[in-house]
Amino acid sequence: MPTIAPNLDCIAGSLAERFQKLYGTSPHIFLAPGRVNLIGEHTDYNDGFVMPAAIDFYIWVGVAKRPDRILNVYSEHFAEMVQLSLAALAGPPRKHWSDYVRGVAAVLQAAGRTLSGANLMIYSQVPLGAGLSSSASLEVSTALALMAISEVEFSPLELVKICQRAEHEYAGTRCGIMDQFIAVCGRADCALMLDCRSLEHQILALPDDVCIVICNSMVKHELAAGEYNRRRADCESGVKILQRHLPNMRALRDATLADLQQNQPLLPQRIWRRCHHVVSENQRVLGAAEALRSGDLAGFGRLMYESHASLRDDYEVSCRELDLLVELASTCEGIYGARMTGAGFGGCTVNLIRSEAVDSFQSRVTESYKKATGKTLEVYVCAAAQGARAWQPLVG
Ligand code: GLA
Repeated sequence: MPTIAPNLDCIAGSLAERFQKLYGTSPHIFLAPGRVNLIGEHTDYNDGFVMPAAIDFYIWVGVAKRPDRILNVYSEHFAEMVQLSLAALAGPPRKHWSDYVRGVAAVLQAAGRTLSGANLMIYSQVPLGAGLSSSASLEVSTALALMAISEVEFSPLELVKICQRAEHEYAGTRCGIMDQFIAVCGRADCALMLDCRSLEHQILALPDDVCIVICNSMVKHELAAGEYNRRRADCESGVKILQRHLPNMRALRDATLADLQQNQPLLPQRIWRRCHHVVSENQRVLGAAEALRSGDLAGFGRLMYESHASLRDDYEVSCRELDLLVELASTCEGIYGARMTGAGFGGCTVNLIRSEAVDSFQSRVTESYKKATGKTLEVYVCAAAQGARAWQPLVG
């Protein structure tokens, strides 16, 4: 994975060539970005607040129509071709990359639209399973491709919900709405603060002299999907207990820290810690938005560190390597804040750094991480990017 995103025209051109070789026709091309979440982790499925940005690494889908009802799907990453019949997409998760494609096609059809058969080719710049939302960008880019060749239209918000449903029902993760939302609605040079209950969002410009730097720990924990669903179930148990005293409460979004303190004796210790993370994290997101608006990057950074500590201690979704990366980052020059990003259990940290300090940060953290773990860190310096779209080659 390169640290500087390669030219998008080149990627599109060479994807088109490979598509032509494999299928004998030229494709339409669609792309959807990965994402990094600046703050607001494990809050989206609690009706809370999140602050993601789309990043300039994409999943690309080349597509051409077929005259039958077959989807041929080639994944370049897995060097694997899968054939799906549009007439027989149902079935439980198979724990295979094609679940996302099958899911999106099935949910688009369940929404009452007839899809055309198609040949597809998938190329990913987003590292898979690293917490940068490769799943949502695959869902969204595939959905755009299938909709375009089938001449089917949905609003952006409908598209977001279709992709989320595909992930729930066909991939088996009961994810929130953040990843699909930012993959569709991302804005260049901006983060979004999303209210996951009303789905209203505010666009927050990121300062010019600051870089988003992502450190990939290269650790993947296979238990992630099961643990994710268990965290969600813990939050739901918390809500059920708290509702006895707070009958108007619908989700953890509705609780305050004072509510939690008052009801602490009712909540088993583990559940209390899960709730404490979510309720405090929602406050941190609101504080972080305020800090960004007023140019208080030091304040923003402090909230990132607090978020990480809460994910580590209360929500228990960090791991040794992510903790180490945050610790190492905190000792570097020019850093405002660092935290794990995404679902956790491995994956990446996000770091907010003054632009001129990025090079020294990169070499220092890479070297210390190698010494401490034996692992080779991957570092991505990102720009906040626009959401999913059809590829339009630059003219002239
Ligand atoms: C995954 C899910 C999101 C969100 C994050 C944790 O990325 O897809 O909906 O819950 O984890 O914040």
